[in-house]
Amino acid sequence: MERTLILVKPDAFARGLTGEIIARFERKGLKIVAIKSMQLDRETAERHYAEHREKPFFGELVDFITSGPLVALVLSGERAIEAARQVIGATDPLAAAPGSIRGDFALSVQNNLVHGSDSPESAEREVAIFFPELVGSAVA
Ligand code: PPS
Repeated sequence: MERTLILVKPDAFARGLTGEIIARFERKGLKIVAIKSMQLDRETAERHYAEHREKPFFGELVDFITSGPLVALVLSGERAIEAARQVIGATDPLAAAPGSIRGDFALSVQNNLVHGSDSPESAEREVAIFFPELVGSAVA
Protein backbone atom coordinates (compact mmCIF):
# COMPACT_ATOMS: atom_id res chain seq x y z
CA MET A 1 0.00 0.00 0.00
CA GLU A 2 1.13 3.51 -0.78
CA ARG A 3 -0.20 7.00 -0.04
CA THR A 4 -0.13 10.23 -2.00
CA LEU A 5 -0.93 13.90 -1.42
CA ILE A 6 -3.50 15.47 -3.72
CA LEU A 7 -4.43 19.14 -3.99
CA VAL A 8 -7.66 20.15 -5.71
CA LYS A 9 -6.32 23.55 -6.73
CA PRO A 10 -8.09 26.92 -6.41
CA ASP A 11 -9.20 26.93 -10.07
CA ALA A 12 -11.02 23.62 -9.60
CA PHE A 13 -12.53 24.81 -6.32
CA ALA A 14 -13.76 28.05 -7.94
CA ARG A 15 -15.25 26.15 -10.89
CA GLY A 16 -17.20 23.78 -8.65
CA LEU A 17 -15.25 20.73 -9.87
CA THR A 18 -14.18 19.47 -6.44
CA GLY A 19 -16.81 16.72 -6.19
CA GLU A 20 -16.24 15.55 -9.78
CA ILE A 21 -12.48 15.35 -9.21
CA ILE A 22 -12.68 13.49 -5.90
CA ALA A 23 -15.23 11.08 -7.37
CA ARG A 24 -12.77 10.15 -10.12
CA PHE A 25 -10.13 9.15 -7.58
CA GLU A 26 -12.69 7.13 -5.64
CA ARG A 27 -13.92 5.38 -8.77
CA LYS A 28 -10.33 4.41 -9.56
CA GLY A 29 -10.30 2.58 -6.21
CA LEU A 30 -8.21 5.00 -4.16
CA LYS A 31 -9.27 5.47 -0.55
CA ILE A 32 -9.60 8.86 1.17
CA VAL A 33 -7.43 8.78 4.29
CA ALA A 34 -7.68 12.49 5.16
CA ILE A 35 -9.34 15.53 3.58
CA LYS A 36 -9.66 19.22 4.40
CA SER A 37 -10.42 22.54 2.80
CA MET A 38 -7.99 25.37 3.47
CA GLN A 39 -6.30 28.43 1.99
CA LEU A 40 -2.52 28.22 1.83
CA ASP A 41 -0.27 30.99 3.12
CA ARG A 42 2.80 31.86 1.01
CA GLU A 43 5.25 30.19 3.38
CA THR A 44 3.45 26.85 3.19
CA ALA A 45 3.06 27.14 -0.58
CA GLU A 46 6.78 27.86 -1.00
CA ARG A 47 7.61 24.84 1.16
CA HIS A 48 5.31 22.61 -0.87
CA TYR A 49 6.80 23.75 -4.19
CA ALA A 50 10.40 24.12 -2.88
CA GLU A 51 11.88 21.96 -5.66
CA HIS A 52 10.66 24.54 -8.21
CA ARG A 53 12.13 27.56 -6.40
CA GLU A 54 14.59 28.31 -9.22
CA LYS A 55 12.02 27.97 -12.03
CA PRO A 56 10.94 31.18 -13.80
CA PHE A 57 7.30 30.45 -13.00
CA PHE A 58 7.82 29.91 -9.25
CA GLY A 59 6.30 33.26 -8.20
CA GLU A 60 3.23 32.74 -10.38
CA LEU A 61 2.85 29.20 -9.09
CA VAL A 62 2.82 30.45 -5.48
CA ASP A 63 0.45 33.34 -6.38
CA PHE A 64 -1.92 30.88 -7.98
CA ILE A 65 -1.94 28.18 -5.30
CA THR A 66 -2.53 30.82 -2.58
CA SER A 67 -5.21 32.67 -4.56
CA GLY A 68 -8.22 30.93 -3.02
CA PRO A 69 -9.44 27.90 -1.12
CA LEU A 70 -8.27 24.44 -2.11
CA VAL A 71 -8.93 20.90 -0.92
CA ALA A 72 -6.02 18.77 0.30
CA LEU A 73 -6.39 14.99 0.46
CA VAL A 74 -4.33 11.96 1.30
CA LEU A 75 -5.29 8.96 -0.83
CA SER A 76 -4.09 5.43 -0.31
CA GLY A 77 -4.07 2.28 -2.39
CA GLU A 78 -1.90 -0.07 -4.37
CA ARG A 79 0.56 2.06 -6.40
CA ALA A 80 -1.45 5.11 -5.32
CA ILE A 81 1.08 7.68 -6.58
CA GLU A 82 1.14 6.37 -10.14
CA ALA A 83 -2.61 5.64 -10.13
CA ALA A 84 -3.46 9.18 -9.03
CA ARG A 85 -1.17 10.70 -11.65
CA GLN A 86 -2.87 8.59 -14.33
CA VAL A 87 -6.27 9.89 -13.19
CA ILE A 88 -4.89 13.48 -13.18
CA GLY A 89 -3.15 13.37 -16.60
CA ALA A 90 -0.04 15.17 -17.93
CA THR A 91 1.00 18.60 -16.56
CA ASP A 92 0.12 20.30 -19.87
CA PRO A 93 -3.62 19.71 -20.26
CA LEU A 94 -3.26 19.64 -24.05
CA ALA A 95 -0.90 16.67 -23.71
CA ALA A 96 -3.13 14.99 -21.11
CA ALA A 97 -5.17 12.02 -22.31
CA PRO A 98 -8.88 12.51 -22.82
CA GLY A 99 -10.56 10.82 -19.86
CA SER A 100 -8.01 12.24 -17.42
CA ILE A 101 -9.02 15.19 -15.22
CA ARG A 102 -6.72 17.65 -17.00
CA GLY A 103 -7.50 16.17 -20.41
CA ASP A 104 -11.21 16.67 -19.85
CA PHE A 105 -11.39 19.96 -17.93
CA ALA A 106 -8.22 22.10 -18.29
CA LEU A 107 -6.40 24.27 -20.85
CA SER A 108 -3.57 25.91 -18.93
CA VAL A 109 -0.29 24.53 -17.57
CA GLN A 110 -0.74 26.70 -14.49
CA ASN A 111 -4.49 26.39 -13.98
CA ASN A 112 -4.43 22.62 -14.30
CA LEU A 113 -6.85 21.79 -11.49
CA VAL A 114 -5.00 19.14 -9.48
CA HIS A 115 -1.62 18.35 -7.94
CA GLY A 116 -0.45 14.80 -7.17
CA SER A 117 2.82 13.76 -5.53
CA ASP A 118 5.38 12.49 -8.06
CA SER A 119 7.38 9.99 -5.93
CA PRO A 120 7.23 8.20 -2.57
CA GLU A 121 9.73 10.73 -1.16
CA SER A 122 7.64 13.70 -2.36
CA ALA A 123 4.47 12.07 -1.05
CA GLU A 124 5.82 11.69 2.48
CA ARG A 125 7.30 15.22 2.43
CA GLU A 126 4.00 16.70 1.19
CA VAL A 127 1.82 14.65 3.56
CA ALA A 128 3.94 16.04 6.41
CA ILE A 129 3.24 19.62 5.25
CA PHE A 130 -0.52 19.27 4.95
CA PHE A 131 -1.32 16.51 7.48
CA PRO A 132 1.48 16.44 10.08
CA GLU A 133 -0.76 14.31 12.30
CA LEU A 134 -0.29 11.41 9.84
CA VAL A 135 3.50 11.36 10.04
CA GLY A 136 4.67 7.99 11.28
CA SER A 137 1.23 6.41 10.95
CA ALA A 138 0.87 3.11 9.10
CA VAL A 139 -0.32 3.34 5.49
CA ALA A 140 -3.61 1.42 5.31
S1 PPS B 1 9.02 20.96 -14.45
O1 PPS B 1 9.56 22.19 -15.00
O2 PPS B 1 9.00 19.84 -15.40
O3 PPS B 1 9.66 20.57 -13.16
O4 PPS B 1 7.58 21.31 -14.12
P1 PPS B 1 6.44 20.29 -13.82
O5 PPS B 1 6.88 19.21 -12.87
O6 PPS B 1 5.85 19.87 -15.09
O7 PPS B 1 5.47 21.27 -13.07
C1 PPS B 1 5.66 21.60 -11.74
C2 PPS B 1 4.48 22.42 -11.26
O8 PPS B 1 4.58 23.72 -11.81
C3 PPS B 1 3.44 24.04 -12.58
N1 PPS B 1 3.91 24.70 -13.81
C4 PPS B 1 3.69 25.98 -14.08
N2 PPS B 1 3.04 26.93 -13.40
C5 PPS B 1 2.99 28.17 -13.99
N3 PPS B 1 3.54 28.47 -15.18
C6 PPS B 1 4.21 27.53 -15.88
N4 PPS B 1 4.76 27.85 -17.05
C7 PPS B 1 4.30 26.22 -15.33
N5 PPS B 1 4.88 25.06 -15.75
C8 PPS B 1 4.63 24.14 -14.79
C9 PPS B 1 2.75 22.75 -12.89
O9 PPS B 1 1.35 22.94 -12.95
C10 PPS B 1 3.14 21.87 -11.73
O10 PPS B 1 2.24 22.01 -10.66
P2 PPS B 1 1.85 20.73 -9.78
O11 PPS B 1 0.96 21.29 -8.73
O12 PPS B 1 3.12 20.14 -9.23
O13 PPS B 1 1.14 19.80 -10.70
